[in-house]
Amino acid sequence: MSELSQLTELQSRVNQLLTEKLDTLPVNDEKLLEAMRYGLLIGGKRMRPYLAYITGETVGAEQNDIDGVACALECIHAYSLLHDDLPAMDDDDLRRGKPTCHNAFDEATAILAGDALQTLAFDFLANHNFSTHVQNKRFELLKQLVAASGYQGMCGGQALDLSATDKAISLAELEQVHALKTGALLKASVLMAAECSPTISEEQKTLLAKYAKLVGLAYQVQDDIIDITSSEEELGKPKGSDVAANKSTYPALLGLEGAQQKAQDLYQESLQALASLPYNTQTLADFATFIIRRTH
Ligand code: IPE
Ligand code: IPE
Ligand code: MG
Ligand code: MG
Ligand code: MG
Repeated sequence: MSELSQLTELQSRVNQLLTEKLDTLPVNDEKLLEAMRYGLLIGGKRMRPYLAYITGETVGAEQNDIDGVACALECIHAYSLLHDDLPAMDDDDLRRGKPTCHNAFDEATAILAGDALQTLAFDFLANHNFSTHVQNKRFELLKQLVAASGYQGMCGGQALDLSATDKAISLAELEQVHALKTGALLKASVLMAAECSPTISEEQKTLLAKYAKLVGLAYQVQDDIIDITSSEEELGKPKGSDVAANKSTYPALLGLEGAQQKAQDLYQESLQALASLPYNTQTLADFATFIIRRTH
């Protein structure tokens, strides 16, 4: 992962902000707060915050503004993983090299920790000390996060994923599942950061949206690939759990090589979208490269 510029620095930055936030919460229920810490602070590549920071830098946004967006995105992502691993969903025992939250605590606590992390995301957007021009966009940012994470986005995609389990679906249907369950939040990482730019035009946002959609889809295609090709040690989550659960995935539908080709195609298209932007988009291009090369 070291090829991504400033990755360690930006991971530390968001980790510190998230830690500070949890430290300010009253200890009303010690177990719930511990489970929230467990789900949010232990491990994770912080790819959504990273993507928001590099997009922000590309389009001339202030890093302090991206802080609020990055924390909100990571809270939604952490919540989605706590619920994704539950027995009623993917029923996985290992996440980020550790027992899943419902195993480390209990099922009810993992559900509640997910719920509380979800609302914490909106706490960040509602209360972050944004600069004056972004204060006016707070509502727009909230709307984007709602659309990306709720029924029209991640949550809807998770439902489609579950109903596509044990069932053959078309390529178009699978693309819809992937675009919603994973693509939507990654796309929001780019677009919410772009919203923080004082100068960006609608046309530029459209090009960034195209890049983000392709990269978001590629992220889940690669997640399906590494579920087969990487070791449990590398992944920090069980290997082969998609096959074991009879999930609809790109490798299941197209074979491993077909899935790898799909990731390549999405990658090339994402680079084309960047090429038309009037910014230095090298870091965004590097992120796309990282995605299709990642092994965990
Ligand atoms: C895993 O996400 C689940 C997907 C949406 C593909 P990540 O691969 O970003 O997981 P962490 O946060 O680094 O653990
Ligand atoms: C997860 O997809 C998507 C979300 C959590 C929104 P997966 O079920 O493939 O993620 P992993 O492989 O368990 O990390
Ligand atoms: Mg899942
Ligand atoms: Mg899963
Ligand atoms: Mg997976």
